[in-house]
Amino acid sequence: MCSANPGLAGAYRCFYGAENEPVYAWSMTQSNDRYAAILNLRALRSFRDEPLPDAVVEKLLEAARWTGSSKNRQNWSFIVVEGEQKERLAACGDFTDPMRNSPVALALVQEPEGYEFDTGRLAQNVMLAADAIGLASCPITLHREQDAAAVLELPPDARCRYAIALGYPGDDAKPRRLGGRKPRAEVAYRNRHGEPW
Ligand SMILES: Cc1cc2nc3c(=O)[nH]c(=O)nc-3n(C[C@H](O)[C@H](O)[C@H](O)COP(=O)(O)O)c2cc1C
Repeated sequence: MCSANPGLAGAYRCFYGAENEPVYAWSMTQSNDRYAAILNLRALRSFRDEPLPDAVVEKLLEAARWTGSSKNRQNWSFIVVEGEQKERLAACGDFTDPMRNSPVALALVQEPEGYEFDTGRLAQNVMLAADAIGLASCPITLHREQDAAAVLELPPDARCRYAIALGYPGDDAKPRRLGGRKPRAEVAYRNRHGEPW
């Protein structure tokens, strides 16, 4: 029977082959909900005072692990940070209250020869996954990277400039501003910079 996807987190789906055997293949599925989730994803900074069960954190780790990276190098690691250690990490940035208010922060570590672009993709994947399973999230900048590296006991040449505050949304969780995006005409061009789309 082809009833379950064996441990894969991506959109691998089960089809039946010519001999009616189960075949797992990547499928391009369409989903208005997924598109809406992308457009609606916002930084939320209020969290319920409730820990995240390990099973929930593991879903986020899977979303992180399955992110695409340059040449598939996956030069990253993720550190789940809680309790006093989270307080110490929060001291490494200037706008880290959301992290202080959240039960968990996920520190995104750029391992040697990793790319910041990959870390950005990682962050977005984790935030979209969090949204999909009913969690709030907020990116956090660790302005004092050296301090963050010391707190996290990173090996030489690994760096951590970003973390994501995560938790169940608080009753008052809402985007800081409604709207808040430049009009398309200001940011989208055709063929060359400045030529209207
Ligand atoms: C790279 C990056 C770093 C951010 N760092 C912080 C931060 O340190 N503290 C914070 O409260 N929000 C932080 N944010 C959240 C942004 O302030 C937020 O995404 C932006 O104001 C737009 O709001 P919206 O995502 O709700 O539309 C960060 C976002 C990004 C993309």
